[in-house]
Amino acid sequence: MIVSIILSFESSADETSVAVVKDGNKILSNEIATQIKSHQRFGGIVPEVASRHHIERVTILVDEALADANITYADIDAIAVTYGPGLVGSLLIGVTAAKTIAWAHNIPLVPTSHLAGHIMAARFVKPIEYPALALLVSGGHTELVYLPREGAFEVLGETRDDAAGESYDKVGRVMGIAYPAGKTIDELAHQGKDTFNFPRAMENDGTYEFSFSGLKSAFINTYHNAQQRDEVLNKENLAASFQAAVVDVLVNKTAQALDHYPVKQLLLGGGVAANQGLRTALANLLANYDTEFIPVPLKLAGDNAAMIGAAGEIFYRKGRRGTYDLNADPSLEF
Ligand code: KG4
Ligand code: ZN
Repeated sequence: MIVSIILSFESSADETSVAVVKDGNKILSNEIATQIKSHQRFGGIVPEVASRHHIERVTILVDEALADANITYADIDAIAVTYGPGLVGSLLIGVTAAKTIAWAHNIPLVPTSHLAGHIMAARFVKPIEYPALALLVSGGHTELVYLPREGAFEVLGETRDDAAGESYDKVGRVMGIAYPAGKTIDELAHQGKDTFNFPRAMENDGTYEFSFSGLKSAFINTYHNAQQRDEVLNKENLAASFQAAVVDVLVNKTAQALDHYPVKQLLLGGGVAANQGLRTALANLLANYDTEFIPVPLKLAGDNAAMIGAAGEIFYRKGRRGTYDLNADPSLEF
């Protein structure tokens, strides 16, 4: 078997990360520097601040990733880098660092999609069997993706407005919860009940598309109307009701996709894949299907470079190579 060592970079949003991955499925190191604290007081990511932090951290993280993996540049077979989607100024830091090292040490460069990375993080659990279906839920994306074979990604449908994680963060902001609010709302939800019955948009419309902006508005209206009446709503029930609406739609659309695309595995990836309510609901759904459920490990749900190594290894094996004029592509899909 061919052994490959991949050095990978991720800098699309507010995490700078550099990893070393062996054969696309073993993590030798995965250094992650989060900037959350710097963005918290603004309630979301400030692009200019994000770029500056990426510059400060990226070379230090390369040294750490090599040291932790106990390798030198001479051991590296390829460099995988996220070149989109994401914030252009942030992406460019990872792309520039990766290109520089690729050029200086004459190592092949493999441009890699952040979305493919989130989905391929499942490789750290077990080998992926095709055809597979992926539910990708993050701060920037909500999509159902069909994978007929290795390296092929067909988007069945995606959100028309807010992403699932984005709606968690926006609702959290109204409730006074620090950014990113997903984890806290998830925890609150487990102590409450679905008493508000918020809308489940497009739940049974037959498409694979999503819409979360109506849910967000319904939540915010309920919250503000209560405030005007000096009424204090139960936070746990609010969180539980919001989460139930999000999870119901995600699970129903996934069921519809599984009915039309019989697959061997369902992969769950992206920051919102850490959601306990969603993981439980999908595990229950899959009890009715001949499909294996592979949720990404909690530690690898959020942005990290190891997942870019996992996806990059596939593209590397298939011969994809980047040139030194590789640019960031903020609206890249796969
Ligand atoms: O994948 P990710 O780290 O970054 C993007 O590529 O967007 O996802 C971050 C998103 C944030 O919106 C955050 O609130 C959400 O993931 N998130 C969660 C949970 N943990 C993180 N949402 C719901 N439940 C969670 N437990
Ligand atoms: Zn992400």
